[in-house]
Amino acid sequence: MPGSPANRFRIKSPERLVAEAGADLEGHGLKRHMGLYQLVCFGIGAIVGTGIFVGLSDSVAQAGPAVVVSFVLAAVTCVFTAFSFAELGGAIPVSGSSYSFAYAGLGEGTAFLVGWCLLLEYGISVSAVAVGWSQYVNELLHSLTGWQLPADLSAGPGDGGVINLPAVIVIALAAVLLVRGVRESARATAAMAILKLAILVAFCAIGFTAFKHGNLTPFSPAGLGGIGAGTTAAFFSYIGFDAITTAGEEARNPRRDIPVAILVCIGVVTVLYCAVALAAIGAIGGSEVGGRSAALSYVVNQVTGSTIGGGVIAFGAVIAIASVVLAVMYGQTRILMSMSRDGLIPRVFERVSPKTSTPVTGTLIVAVVFAVPAAFASLDSVVNLCTIGTLATMAVVNIAVIALRRGAPGLARTFRVPLYPVMPLLGVAFCLYLIYETGWTTWVQFAVFLAAGFLVYVLYGRRHSRLVATTAEVTPDATAAETQAV
Ligand code: ALA
Repeated sequence: MPGSPANRFRIKSPERLVAEAGADLEGHGLKRHMGLYQLVCFGIGAIVGTGIFVGLSDSVAQAGPAVVVSFVLAAVTCVFTAFSFAELGGAIPVSGSSYSFAYAGLGEGTAFLVGWCLLLEYGISVSAVAVGWSQYVNELLHSLTGWQLPADLSAGPGDGGVINLPAVIVIALAAVLLVRGVRESARATAAMAILKLAILVAFCAIGFTAFKHGNLTPFSPAGLGGIGAGTTAAFFSYIGFDAITTAGEEARNPRRDIPVAILVCIGVVTVLYCAVALAAIGAIGGSEVGGRSAALSYVVNQVTGSTIGGGVIAFGAVIAIASVVLAVMYGQTRILMSMSRDGLIPRVFERVSPKTSTPVTGTLIVAVVFAVPAAFASLDSVVNLCTIGTLATMAVVNIAVIALRRGAPGLARTFRVPLYPVMPLLGVAFCLYLIYETGWTTWVQFAVFLAAGFLVYVLYGRRHSRLVATTAEVTPDATAAETQAV
């Protein structure tokens, strides 16, 4: 019974999560249409964007040429957690990502707070990526027409402007496409992913033609502190790899393909990011790259002595970053769908239109809510909030792996974290270190955000939870199995 010692954590069994997702799949019309290739493209679509095109200059400002070490450290943090995502994504292939994993491993209260943090990882990420997009829109306008939007209309008050109009526009466009089900076009997703990989490879090819070893010295001008701060900044460019697990209900063979797709994506982007950083710094030097707006276009313009190359990069970046907005907004709507299905947030988020097979109202609410920080907040503040929220959920996912190995040892796992439990514990440690590096302003904002989430859970989610309603209807044996304590 609810509230008894046996089910005080309100844990939902992995089997039940998968069964509910299957029923929902039939009832709501989501289709299983994604193979491994589509999942990898979807992952690249969610990962590669503002972080490398815009955030690189921030990481370089902190770490100098040692930003390469920062990228590797950020990647290592992600790899530890990617293993955990891979194990859980293969074992519990449903669309709720870390939220669902926490529900199965750690119970409803933790799951709610994880879902709440995912509003930072996905929702605020939509805002942050959109803010970064406007830098390259301006660069593209400049190279095409010699004119660009005035600062007042292309940056929020946090970045010295009044309103960031391009950021609002890209969010609105993404919402329209998602409502119309455009994300279901596997070909468009793949084309976007290939385009952005091609742009970054082309950038490296151009940058390396002007490579000078001398530009890499001093290698670490700000020492270990700079590398640590650079790692936190670089981490943003990896956020999104776990979005692959949000497609669990639309993958053809989720138990095999989701783990593989996650690891492939992390590997590919790590190599690419290090190459881009070396090409940029090697070509014009760390102090020229650091803090530069639309840095990749600037590097190409400097190397080629013309604005055409930078314009081409800007064009690619505009398309590439827009695809991240699309992919991340898609992930957010699917997570809210899972939480709504569980009764923890209002039902409006789980409603799928029979006409488009998409969650229309949920998508529009997400777009409106996250357009506000996109319009008015500074890039740094939204990036930091997104980073701390993501790190917190990643720490919980690592802990959920341990809890589920203990609580559900018989669960079918297509992938198992190697060197268990060392890997997930190292994952937690790296996440905590990067959270520490975000600084106290972000800690305070995050604490307030968590406190608000706690209130919403106590006042709404806990009372409307369908886990309690449905377990009360089944037999005592089933209830005991369902609500196993950790
Ligand atoms: N990793 C995503 C980006 O770089 C959030 O834009």
